[in-house]
Amino acid sequence: MGTIKAFAASALLLLGATGVAAQDDKLRVNLDDSSSIKSAAKVVARNLMEYYPGDEPGKTVGILPGPPPIGPYYWWQAGAMFGTIIDYWHYTGDDEYHEVTRRALVHQAGAPTNSYMPPNWTASLGNDDQAFWGMAAMLAAETNFPNPPKDQPQWLALAQAVFNTQVARWETEDCNGGLRWQIPHSNGGYTYKNTIANVCFLNIAARLARYTNNETYAIWAERTWDWESGVGYVDKDFNVYDGGHTDFNCTDINKVQFSANPAVLIHGVAIMYNYTNGEEKWRARVAGLLNRTLDHFFPEGIMVERACELEDSMQCNVDQHSFKGYMHRALATVAMVAPFTRPDIMKVLRSSTQGAVSSCLSDGTCGFRWNKGYYDRDTLNGPAGQQMSALAALSSLLVLERNQGPYTNLTGGTSAGDPNAGANPNIFAPPPPVTTGDRAGAGIVTALVLASTIACLAWVSGPWWEGDV
Ligand SMILES: *[C@@H]1O[C@H](CO)[C@@H](O)[C@H](O)[C@H]1NC(C)=O
Ligand SMILES: *[C@@H]1O[C@H](CO)[C@@H](O)[C@H](O)[C@H]1NC(C)=O
Ligand SMILES: *[C@@H]1O[C@H](CO)[C@@H](O)[C@H](O)[C@H]1NC(C)=O
Ligand SMILES: *[C@@H]1O[C@H](CO)[C@@H](O)[C@H](O)[C@H]1NC(C)=O
Ligand SMILES: *[C@@H]1O[C@H](CO)[C@@H](O)[C@H](O)[C@H]1NC(C)=O
Ligand SMILES: *[C@@H]1O[C@H](CO)[C@@H](O)[C@H](O)[C@H]1NC(C)=O
Repeated sequence: MGTIKAFAASALLLLGATGVAAQDDKLRVNLDDSSSIKSAAKVVARNLMEYYPGDEPGKTVGILPGPPPIGPYYWWQAGAMFGTIIDYWHYTGDDEYHEVTRRALVHQAGAPTNSYMPPNWTASLGNDDQAFWGMAAMLAAETNFPNPPKDQPQWLALAQAVFNTQVARWETEDCNGGLRWQIPHSNGGYTYKNTIANVCFLNIAARLARYTNNETYAIWAERTWDWESGVGYVDKDFNVYDGGHTDFNCTDINKVQFSANPAVLIHGVAIMYNYTNGEEKWRARVAGLLNRTLDHFFPEGIMVERACELEDSMQCNVDQHSFKGYMHRALATVAMVAPFTRPDIMKVLRSSTQGAVSSCLSDGTCGFRWNKGYYDRDTLNGPAGQQMSALAALSSLLVLERNQGPYTNLTGGTSAGDPNAGANPNIFAPPPPVTTGDRAGAGIVTALVLASTIACLAWVSGPWWEGDV
């Protein structure tokens, strides 16, 4: 589906290039008129969902075409897409995708453990991949997205399952703590302790604390902040770096800055600010992260993925093509739960969305570069990510009009929880110490895992936003 659309779009532009047709073909939106924003968002949403074949015969429910080399998208990106769709519904009221979203979030939960670790996707299963699905489930709870039938896993319990399985993976032998990037030991990237894995964990912990009012989650959110900044991944100027390796005790910091990291982080930190009823240390962290984020990622008021969206070339991969949307969605939530940020955030969300819209055609096909004023025909790296980002930008602009902060269990949230969700069986827990008797058996398992992994290594070990380290 993506290939066909990509072809159609470039054919259209070739035609348009000879005259004014391309100009007339732009998506028209008046950002001062919420009904205009809603109709534009609906066109973009429909365009996005054309990339999703999950409910067609013979396709897997819940995933975008992939993972590589079968198709462009890793497993996690569909989780991010359904999160985007939930926000779209929350802000616009359009419930067209309720059923498809519920089916996807429930199927990919991975029965019977229901902790977003389905065996199908083990070869690319990072803590961050799991958490992007967990964050979508958490959002479903926070927005009172319709609950699944009682015999199916519930939104809050799914987020708790992700939290519980990740707490079990926190380990202090290297780097004084933190989560590794990958979950299975055999995956390339297992020795990388990176920011995205840890800030996703912090994000879910903070939101669980606020939703359930259970301090245990808050302690973990704070511990993760302390670790992340202690190890130097967040520096004193609030730059947010990518990560380091356990072989170097995480001192070999890869200082590349991708927006997904501060986006997920500032969301979690703002939730902690709200949960603590405005505690000064969390206020300072929100303010610092916001200041640095605006300066770094919104030069001229329009979002740029600076590490790979270069003036003269485009080096962003499929994953990175979806990052702008996470930033816009995160900032909208920050504006709700940390009201002191509203003036700064709404100003930049508006100017950046204006840029996003200027990259869209009238059929809702949007580009990746938002600061050019036209559709950039960047179709090589997973157009679904660009569609998600444009949709996120448009819907997030309605945040103040919607004026509904994330629900909690005390303020109308209806999702059912299970504090022990995901505890059994934790198939990817760190291996227990090996006794002599176990060794032979473990060796066989390892050989089998290795044999099946090596076949996939060509694409699995290519770090997805680790850059060239
Ligand atoms: C796992 O793969 C099988 C075979 O393609 C498919 O039927 C099933 O729906 C998949 N499960 C998940 C959770 O993706
Ligand atoms: C590893 O780094 C942590 C701080 O992040 C430090 O506390 C610990 O002593 C270091 N360990 C080694 C072996 O250098
Ligand atoms: C949510 O509140 C209800 C009562 O209003 C209570 O029965 C339930 O245990 C609470 N759930 C959580 C996760 O705290
Ligand atoms: C961030 O803080 C610096 C130093 O105080 C200031 O010069 C800059 O204008 C701030 N940026 C934004 C976007 O507020
Ligand atoms: C927490 O969020 C709610 C909902 O948006 C908001 O009304 C409240 O003012 C926030 N609390 C603080 C301390 O900012
Ligand atoms: C709070 O969360 C922790 C961590 O999951 C759990 O062990 C504990 O039972 C929860 N407490 C309550 C009162 O639900």
